[in-house]
Amino acid sequence: MGTAIPLVTRVKSKLADLRSSTLRLLLSDFVLFRAAILLVRYLKVGSYAQRVRLGAVKRPHYAYCVYHAAALAKRLGYERISVLEFGVAGGTGLLALEEHARNISRELEIDIDIYGFDSGCGLPALKDYRDLPYHWKAGFFRMNEEALVSKLTMAKLVLGDVSETVPRFVSEYKPAPVAAVMVDLDLYSATDHALRLFDCAEAYRLPRIFCYFDDITGDEAELYNDFTGERLAIREFNERHSTVKLSKAYHLTTRRRVEPWYYQIMVLHDFSHSRYNDFVSRENQQLPLKARRGE
Ligand SMILES: C[S@@+](CC[C@H](N)C(=O)[O-])C[C@H]1O[C@@H](n2cnc3c(N)ncnc32)[C@H](O)[C@@H]1O
Repeated sequence: MGTAIPLVTRVKSKLADLRSSTLRLLLSDFVLFRAAILLVRYLKVGSYAQRVRLGAVKRPHYAYCVYHAAALAKRLGYERISVLEFGVAGGTGLLALEEHARNISRELEIDIDIYGFDSGCGLPALKDYRDLPYHWKAGFFRMNEEALVSKLTMAKLVLGDVSETVPRFVSEYKPAPVAAVMVDLDLYSATDHALRLFDCAEAYRLPRIFCYFDDITGDEAELYNDFTGERLAIREFNERHSTVKLSKAYHLTTRRRVEPWYYQIMVLHDFSHSRYNDFVSRENQQLPLKARRGE
């Protein structure tokens, strides 16, 4: 017959277990890293470029695209670029873009214009299964235009259905070359219309454009896949074009720490763009033969 452990001893041992697992969690690499990132973000330690690299900024995925778009434009000698958000809703993303643009513009000495595309009245009528009606409904994400406009300092709102605003955007706004695009329209039909912006004359586009797609990963309710939603629009875009392709950002997914949003970044490559082959990398890529010890 086993000896019964007194209740007090059992409670004490449970508490000790709990304390050590909480302590372990607090000291875990992951939690320490997140805490350090929050500290860097709120104390604004280092340059904006350094904070973007660490992900220690608001919406790091937006910042990443704007920063690298501006850096590429700068290396190519552009003085001004445009950054677009497709799908604005309440405007939190557009306001974050303004903050990134202000900081990056100052650090890299390049002008950045921002445009936000939205119907203003939320998701339009869904067309068919490709718009994922099991997840979205018409009218979701209505914008409070007055409230948003009162907060915006530089971004321009391009209001109306993207099937109408995208085809006339370039002739109406004569934008600086598009360098980064955030796509958050949710629906296949709307994303299909938005991606047609990349068919504009090359004077309005950089040879490579940093893009973020909000709805290509998701959860078990969304179940995004290659045959519906934003993923289908991307696939069809690539099928329609032989020299312009949206490609995954492989370089991000090989970083030591991989953030979920790395899988949502894609880069538009226009191989036929007259500036596509311009050298923008490190000048000195020589690999000297190292002498062996003792030589
Ligand atoms: C999820 S919300 C965008 C959220 C926003 N990016 C943010 O970060 O807060 C999607 C938006 O796409 C817009 N939208 C969807 N289809 C559209 C279309 N065909 N034309 C214009 N806007 C559209 C909706 O009005 C909605 O505001």
